[in-house]
Formats: sequence, C-alpha cells, structure tokens
Amino acid sequence: MAFKERVFSGVQPTGNLHLGNYLGAIVKFVALQENYDCIYCVVDMHAITVWQDPAELKKTTREVTAAFIACGIDPQKHIIFNQSQVAEHAELAWVCNCVARMGWLNRMTQFKEKAGKDRENVSVGLFVYPSLMAADILVYRATHVPVGEDQKQHLELSRDIAQKFNNDFAESIRSHGFGDAFFPLPEPLIQGPATRVMSLRDGSKKMSKSDASDQSRINLTDDADTIALKIRRAKTDPHPLPSEEKGLEGRPEAENLVGIYAALQGVSRADVLKQFGGGQFSTFKNALADLSVAKLGPIGAEMKRLTQDHAYIDKVLAHGSERAQAIAAETMKAVKDIVGFVRR
Ligand code: TYM
Repeated sequence: MAFKERVFSGVQPTGNLHLGNYLGAIVKFVALQENYDCIYCVVDMHAITVWQDPAELKKTTREVTAAFIACGIDPQKHIIFNQSQVAEHAELAWVCNCVARMGWLNRMTQFKEKAGKDRENVSVGLFVYPSLMAADILVYRATHVPVGEDQKQHLELSRDIAQKFNNDFAESIRSHGFGDAFFPLPEPLIQGPATRVMSLRDGSKKMSKSDASDQSRINLTDDADTIALKIRRAKTDPHPLPSEEKGLEGRPEAENLVGIYAALQGVSRADVLKQFGGGQFSTFKNALADLSVAKLGPIGAEMKRLTQDHAYIDKVLAHGSERAQAIAAETMKAVKDIVGFVRR
C-alpha cells in the first residue's frame, strides 16, 4: 500500500541546542520542507523521563521552538508544536508499549548509557522512552524521519513496533478497510558529512548537551567570539591535514572538524580536503571559525529575539498543536477500531 509521504522529527527541550543538533537534524528539517509536509515536535514528554525544573522546561521548550523558526522552518507551511499539547501521543504510546517486547527495549543502548549502574532508580518512563518515540512517528503515519546517527536504533525499534502492530492486527486492519498495513515503516534519514558531531575536547565522545564542559560544544546561542574561541581551542593532533579522506582514519578530531566544515558549507569532506589538505590546522581552524560565525551568528541572534516574544512563540505552538491533533485524532480513531476498543 502506498502511504502519503510525511516527515516527522522531534527535539528534546533539555539544555542548550548545539552544533550536533543543528547539523545532525535541524539543517535537514529545513531542507525537507521543500518537498514534504513536515511535522516538527518539541518533545517535552520525553524530557521529563529525567526530572526537569518546571520553569526551566517551559523556557527551553520556547527556546527550541525559537531555534526551529530561526533556522528557517516555516510554521505556517509546516507544523511546529510541543508534544504534551497533543494527548494522542500518550494514548498511542500505551498501545506501542503493549506491542513492544521487553527484550527489544532491554537492548536499547541509549537506555543502558543513561541508566548506567543505577538501573533500579531511573524512571519507568526512561525505559519506555523509545516506545513513546514510536508513537510520535506513527500517530502521524510519518514515512520519513530525519535524525542524527545516535537515534538509529530507536528508529529501528519504531519500525519493529509498526511491523508487529500490522502483523498482530492484520485481519482487523483489513476488515476495517485499511488494506495490508495500517502503519508505514518509517524510514530514517541519516545522511551527510555530520551525522555524528563529536565533542571539541574529545573526538571519541559525541557532542552533547549533558557534557560538563561547555568548551566541548558550540551552542546555537553562543556569540561570535565564543564560537571562534571554542574552534581555535578545539583538540587536534600535530599532523597537517591530509589531502584525501583515507588520511582521516584514526584521526577522530581532524575527521570531526572536516565533517563540520563540510556540513556547514554544504560540500563533501573530499572537497574540504582538496582545499585545505597539506595545510596546517591553524589555517583550517581560522577558516572554520569564520564559517561557523557566518552561519550560526545570525541564527543565535534571531533565536534570542524570538525567545523574548512569548506571545508569538506560544501562538505558533498552539496553532501547530491544533493542526497536529487533527491528524493524530484520525489515526487514534482508526487504531481504537483496529485494536477493538469501543468508542463514542
Ligand atoms: P535529541 O533531543 O537528543 O536530539 C535532537 C536531534 O539531534 C541529533 N543529535 C546529533 N546529531 C549529530 N551529532 C550529534 N552530536 C547529535 N546530538 C544530537 C539527534 O540524533 C536528534 O535527531 N529521542 C530524540 C527526540 C525524539 C524523536 C522522536 C526524534 C523524540 N521523538 C521521533 C525523531 C522522531 C532525542 O532525544 O533527540
């Protein structure tokens, strides 16, 4: 069965958005607007799987919304909203919890990393986090999901849940007139030179909101001097840049900076090495600092301006959630019929 093509993705409102979120996800969100109907969600319900300060959660929810708009997502043409305003996410998540198997969730590496040795003490929500993610995507019957590489395993789980639902209820799906499958198997979109942006202090660690060192990441709200300084101080090795990609092997810091340059400039890593190969890191870092400031400076300034305007941001979220809910409510009606819930 052919499904209507639709893009969905989400970003957590926890802490500062950084260059990894931008290059791994948001840049793609912007590009996909051209050819798809897109739904972009600030996933506040995912955020509270770990305790959040309530006032801070409101602030960061508005900040992520401002970032979406500042980066170029059009809230009129596409949908921007926060997850908790569309109750169907939680409703479908329950069904997903009943379809997903304990064994599947037990294999999730992100849960293992986040829970660490303290597994008995983390929230149940953190364990079923990927199941809520599946519900986010499936409640819109989305076909394409742009994410960074760290979300790949969660996307595979979403596909497994969709597939198992389609199989478990195959007869009911057919008898309700939905053909062979009710949910499309969502396709992850993870391409480009910066699907996994690494820490500026340690090329073996992902750039992350939770890293204790602010020097490890470039925040979207950093000013020009801070951005330039962080890049100039980024860890590198003593060798000149190679002229070909093969030469980046075993040099994670060099690989990371070349990937960042390529993604910001919209060219390939090979192109970057053609231009800078054989040269010193200091020359390359100066060029990368200038490029980063040119690309990120205006976004940070616009984010700051928009974040001040609560009324506008809240209006965008209200409008977006109404439109999102209209789609989600249709899906939930069908899911209830398929599963066998009596409804009004
Ligand atoms: P979150 O909020 O951790 O990250 C948002 C997006 O940024 C990407 N990303 C990165 N990409 C490259 N390099 C990095 N260092 C880096 N760090 C983060 C993430 O891959 C993500 O695409 N679980 C999701 C949010 C979510 C979601 C969804 C995504 C909830 N429901 C449904 C897609 C579909 C998360 O925590 O992303």
